[in-house]
Amino acid sequence: MLVHFVTDEPNKIPAIRAMLEPQHAVKSHLLGAAGGQALSSGVLVVDADLRKVVPVEQLKAVLRDLRCVSEKLFVVQDHLRDVIAQAFALGATSVVSRTREILPKLAQVEIAQEAMKADSASAPPEVANSVASFSSLFSAIGKGKPITLSDAENATLEVINGVKQNGLNAWLDDVRRYHEGTFQHCLLVTGVAVAFGMNVKFPDADVKRLGLAATLHDIGKAHIPLAILDKPGRLDQAELEIMNRHPVIGYELLQPIPEIGPEILDGVRHHHEYLDGSGYPDGLTAPEISDLVRLLTISDIFAALIERRSYRPSMSRQDAYKILCEMGGKLEGPLVKAFRSVALSG
Ligand SMILES: [Fe+2]
Ligand SMILES: [Fe+2]
Repeated sequence: MLVHFVTDEPNKIPAIRAMLEPQHAVKSHLLGAAGGQALSSGVLVVDADLRKVVPVEQLKAVLRDLRCVSEKLFVVQDHLRDVIAQAFALGATSVVSRTREILPKLAQVEIAQEAMKADSASAPPEVANSVASFSSLFSAIGKGKPITLSDAENATLEVINGVKQNGLNAWLDDVRRYHEGTFQHCLLVTGVAVAFGMNVKFPDADVKRLGLAATLHDIGKAHIPLAILDKPGRLDQAELEIMNRHPVIGYELLQPIPEIGPEILDGVRHHHEYLDGSGYPDGLTAPEISDLVRLLTISDIFAALIERRSYRPSMSRQDAYKILCEMGGKLEGPLVKAFRSVALSG
């Protein structure tokens, strides 16, 4: 694997070469040195003092050239909390506290990338096509480029086709078999929402609208660090606060796009609101929550429960539906009832 090693101390370069070569190809970038060109492949490893202004400023310039590199590993000695925050603010996707943790981390990244490649090669065409549209959407946001609505519409149409042709069961199985993380979640929510919309006999245009809102509902997560998104287990309070910003981030990303209708924006901003006012970000209550949002919220919770994560088995659809039923006044009772046949079909 190609490793771009960025540091502010020249004597760290031979040490990292000794550790990673010949297994990996190391390309070093010394902060403050001239040069630099936009690169898109490989993995970035940063070991620099993030408490000092000068290296941080120099690092920002280097990171601009390397912004298309998707995996950014930062070494933060002793796991100092404010330095970790600084690393994530600079775009880190993961943080290690010791140099010797780099090698095992790179091995993990390599396995994940290989698995992703193999998966996309063998995934059914609707799943592969909608993933391609999703990744184009997310990477545009990561690079600060404008979002193209056609990517979101294409992803939605592929999901609608997939669910119409092969049913929701096959869609859920295929997606869970082939994808992890935010992509898996968005594909599952969209599949469930579309099936729900069809089940309650929404006209085609409304199914599409609901599907598009589901496709885009967590788009704000493109700005949440992967270390938080993919953290196994519970988030702590500070992480939760960052995570809970995603509906507003998504809304702000989409709001300037004139073709995005108000009901889509409503879905993106309000899919974590509850009828009893206990949701976020705006603490809306029942009269302020639209039908589309009510369907989307039910689909979102259900999909999150049945997701497959590497650190826990996925919950059965029966158990997930039971949890929805136990949420009482947070969700609309008759809609949860109507959702039963979608949740438990097949
Ligand atoms: Fe969400
Ligand atoms: Fe979600």
